[in-house]
Amino acid sequence: MRVMVTGGAGFIGSHLCEALLEREHEICGLDNFDPYYDRGIKERNLAGCREHRNFEFQELDILDWESLKKLARRFRPEVVVHLAALAGVQPSLDRPKKYEEVNVRGTMNIMEMCLEAGCSRVLSASSSSVYGDASRVPFDEADPCDRPVSPYAASKRSAELMAHTYHHIHGLDVANLRFFTVYGPRQRPEMAIAKFTRLIASERPVTLYGDGSSSRDYTFVSDIVSGVVSLVERRLGGYRIYNLGDSSPVRLSDLVTVIEHEVGRKARIQYGEARPGDVRRTWAAVDRAKQDLDYHPKVSIEQGVGRYVAWAKKIGAIS
Ligand SMILES: NC(=O)c1ccc[n+]([C@@H]2O[C@H](COP(=O)([O-])OP(=O)(O)OC[C@H]3O[C@@H](n4cnc5c(N)ncnc54)[C@H](O)[C@@H]3O)[C@@H](O)[C@H]2O)c1
Repeated sequence: MRVMVTGGAGFIGSHLCEALLEREHEICGLDNFDPYYDRGIKERNLAGCREHRNFEFQELDILDWESLKKLARRFRPEVVVHLAALAGVQPSLDRPKKYEEVNVRGTMNIMEMCLEAGCSRVLSASSSSVYGDASRVPFDEADPCDRPVSPYAASKRSAELMAHTYHHIHGLDVANLRFFTVYGPRQRPEMAIAKFTRLIASERPVTLYGDGSSSRDYTFVSDIVSGVVSLVERRLGGYRIYNLGDSSPVRLSDLVTVIEHEVGRKARIQYGEARPGDVRRTWAAVDRAKQDLDYHPKVSIEQGVGRYVAWAKKIGAIS
């Protein structure tokens, strides 16, 4: 299948491109190397894909409508996996307008691009953050999602709503995929597991916001990728929403213990005030994905952190 992957140089995008290439799909990755984190990291993410004969890459901004349209008309994707976004909750508090522009307008551009290029299927990355600070767990796809607590969450929910509109008006087959805290090799450097690993390995203090009792449904990147690949290949139509999570939340304080164990050093912990925009917990109900996509997350937090730490050592990020 001809698959376009936006955000293809990013953490999840590069893993997804590799997995799709292994399964003989023809991939067009695009990314603008947004400076949110270092370009060199994204170039390294892409290195494996670039060697593959079924891979092409375009450096392109999804806000650049003319270039996007030209590319789609030439490549003629059968399905688009839309991962390009400004990710991360805390920075969205400082740059809400930019988040809205890339995550909402950018997603509209992708939908419009599909109409221009005759592509009828879009899988769009959404986030557990759309559930807001919900107290009913686990989070179910049918739960109301009208109380986002950060600009990032609001932008992701807005993008979902826009995607539904394109399904309704134009008949696009759309799936919104709500990823739950994804981690693993190539994880964005500012995310908790990457940051804590660096700090613990270099014996610098680790700040936990809140009292350490918040929890996240950490999901290993290969499990997320298996869910996305399954949906790409199953060709399910209509309008769909799927949680992709591990469905076994981990407390922040327990996460630190797991990282300490894998790194082999004790953390120097300090506590800070809980931050606006953060939620107390995330926890995915994954029954729908299990049933429709045969989605069965396999990697435990201990295994996953172990693999992350081994990778960080291999690339020299920690010693
Ligand atoms: N990592 C997680 O825990 C997580 C959780 C929930 C949802 N998500 C979503 O999954 C997707 C991928 O996240 P990730 O963790 O791989 O992040 P990432 O930042 O590594 O990847 C996103 C990529 O999009 C690119 N990008 C940003 N703006 C762009 C633009 N205007 N045009 C073209 N490319 C642009 C970036 O350069 C980056 O390479 C995002 O949509 C994110 O919101 C991620």
